[in-house]
Parts: sequence; C-alpha cells; structure tokens
Amino acid sequence: MADKTDSKNSKTKTTKTAGTTKAAGTAKTTKTTETKKKASSKKSTAAGSKMTSKKKTVKLDDIRAYIEDIVMSNLPEADGMSDKVRDAMVYAVEAGGKRVRPLLMYLTYKAFSVLNKAEDKGGVADKAPDKNIDFGGPGSHDKAIDYFMAALEMIHTYSLIHDDLPALDNDEMRRGKPTVHKAFGEDIAILAGDGLLNYAYETAVKSFIYCPGDTDVEKAMFILASKPGIYGMLGGQTADVVLTGKKPTAKQLSYIYSNKTAALLECAMTIGATLAGVSGEELDKLQNAAYYIGMAFQVQDDILDVTGNPEELGKDVSQDEKNGKVTFVTIYGLDKASEYVKQASDLAITLINETYSAFTAKAAKSNGVDTVAESENVYLKLLVNLVKQLIDRKK
Ligand code: IPE
Ligand code: IPE
Ligand code: MG
Ligand code: MG
Ligand code: MG
Repeated sequence: MADKTDSKNSKTKTTKTAGTTKAAGTAKTTKTTETKKKASSKKSTAAGSKMTSKKKTVKLDDIRAYIEDIVMSNLPEADGMSDKVRDAMVYAVEAGGKRVRPLLMYLTYKAFSVLNKAEDKGGVADKAPDKNIDFGGPGSHDKAIDYFMAALEMIHTYSLIHDDLPALDNDEMRRGKPTVHKAFGEDIAILAGDGLLNYAYETAVKSFIYCPGDTDVEKAMFILASKPGIYGMLGGQTADVVLTGKKPTAKQLSYIYSNKTAALLECAMTIGATLAGVSGEELDKLQNAAYYIGMAFQVQDDILDVTGNPEELGKDVSQDEKNGKVTFVTIYGLDKASEYVKQASDLAITLINETYSAFTAKAAKSNGVDTVAESENVYLKLLVNLVKQLIDRKK
C-alpha cells in the first residue's frame, strides 16, 4: 500500500499556504437585479435562524443536471477565426464525463454552508435545484461557486485531452467518443487543452464581479491556480510519464496518484469548503478526506482498466498494460486494490463527518450560530453517498 505520510506532509504545507490569508467578511456587495429579486423573495436569514425547510429534498440527479448546465453555459462562444480550437474545446467538454470534481465542490460547499452570513455576496443562483433549501441564507458565494465548478471541469478536461495525446497515453476513445486528437488532429488537441486551461481562469475570475475584494474568493483562486500545477496534477503526470516502463517504488507511486489525480479532488473540496467559510484545521482535514477519495478514485480507475467494459467506461481498457504502466493493481493485485479503495473511502467519510461536527461546534460556540445537525444536513448525506458510489463505480 502506498506511503501516505509523504503526501500528507506536502498536503499540510499547501493548505497552510492557502489558509493563511485573512478570513473573509469585509467584501462589498455587488447585487445584480436578479439577485435583488431573489433576496427580496427569500425570507430573511439573520444569524440564529434555524433551518426551516428540512422536509424539502434535493437529489443527486438534480444537482448533476444543474452542474451540467453550469459547465455547458460557461463555455466560450464562437468568434470566427478561433472556431477550430473552440469547437474542439466544446467537443471535449460536451462529450460528458461524470463531473465528479464539480459535484464534490458543490456538495462540500453546500454541506458546510451552515453559517448565516449577513452580507449578500452574490445571492442564490437562480436555477439552482435547491434554491429553496435555506441552509446558509442568501449570503455566501452561490454565484462564485458556479464559476469555480465550470473552471475546474475545464481544467480536468484539458488534463484528459493532453493525457490522451500520442506522446502520453496515446488513447483513441474518451467519454465515449474519439479523443480530441483523433477527431481534430494533434495540433488542435494541444491547443484545445491550452484553451481550456486558460479559459478556466478567465471563467473563475468572474467571481470577483459578484464578490469584489473577497478574501475567500482570493483563497479559492489560489487553490485553483496551484492544485493543477507543478506541485499538483502536472507534477503527478510528469512523474507518471518519467516512470513509464519502470517499476516505481511505493513512495513514487503514492506521489503519482496523490498528484495526478487526488490534487484535483482536493482542489474541488477545498475550494467548496473555503467558499463556505471553512479554514484552518477543518480545511486541512477536508483536504485529507479529498486526498483519500482521490487515491481511491485512481486505484478504482486502474481496476476498471483491467476489469471494465469499454462501452460503459467510454474509453479503451488494458491501456495501462499497453503503456507499460505499473499501477496499484499490478503491484498489489485486484483484491488488495479493491480493499484499499474501500478503506480509503471509509476513512474519507469519517474525516468528512468529524470535520462537520468540529466545524459546526466551533461555529455555535464562537458565533452563537444555530447550525444544521449532521443528521439533517442533506448535502452532507449526498456527499457521503457520492463517495460511496465512487467505490463501486463501473465507469
Ligand atoms: C479520468 O477522470 C482520469 C482520472 C483521474 C482517473 P474521470 O474518471 O473523472 O473522467 P470523466 O470526467 O468522468 O470522463
Ligand atoms: C490520468 O490518469 C490522470 C490525469 C491527470 C488525466 P490515467 O491516465 O489513468 O487516466 P485515464 O485512464 O486515461 O482516464
Ligand atoms: Mg495517464
Ligand atoms: Mg490516460
Ligand atoms: Mg487510467
């Protein structure tokens, strides 16, 4: 089993950097007409009010549909001259995918949005499936989170386009369709990856329209800038490439998985948590939870590369063997790998629940705020269910 200590240390370091910025709360508010409308139609949520609408339910599928809409509606428009790259960018995103990263971001954000914030930093997103469920009130970062979700899915999709290139994994199928280099050529695929990476930041930065000067959004921007980079996903992909055909040590394998895959899941959950007002120790713990979810996610991906069905997966199988990749499965075997997926996921769930208790207890003590009980927090349940679903996923 991989060495966790090593990656945990680097994790703490990164979170510290992200978490040392001053706490938010001083941002001025820019209200759009639409936000004003929402705010007036919504009942007031002054500090101390209880969650009153626990009978309303929200389903994972509603949230998935909402996220799909957010991701698609934030893609670039055609402008004539650059259409080729734009078409390839849209092709890759439109092809689908599980949208795991925006889902984790949204659910973490909503689950931890239990503090009533007096100021409105963007209002409740108008089309949100759960706009009537009143956890944190109209404050918070409901507009910002949409831009961050779209941005992270763009970054993830860019990483897939480049991962599939002939120079890397040389794959022909992705998300049930020919890979971007197969459909558009290698030149356009490289540019489409670059395009999505860049457009992600162009999109995320729009959050400041709704939350000018907001330090939580600044922290979230830092996380979005760093986790996909050299000390995150890109570093992991690099080690993966460099060690192809070799037998990595457990420590090297752990470095690869925790960076090429877990880093973007950490990015998702820590942005969601940060925008919900989580910081310090609790943010570290949630990052750790995301780390375990990410490790489990990659090991399950390796398992599916051996046992999966290409139609269901939307990508070819046995690619790791073809590329001479040593994975958890080749080293430890299928059974041990599955056991690891279960154990790491269980650990993540424990960490999430513990963090929620600590966070709400602290909020109640220091702010005198009534928070949502763990058993009544539908988003927390959805988050835990999502983690459980990922263990047994077939695609
Ligand atoms: C594939 O990610 C790459 C890995 C990190 C294993 P996903 O399995 O999330 O791919 P999509 O987004 O659903 O296509
Ligand atoms: C890739 O891991 C992780 C990325 C950063 C894209 P894999 O190479 O195993 O992902 P798949 O199997 O191609 O989706
Ligand atoms: Mg790869
Ligand atoms: Mg690959
Ligand atoms: Mg794989």
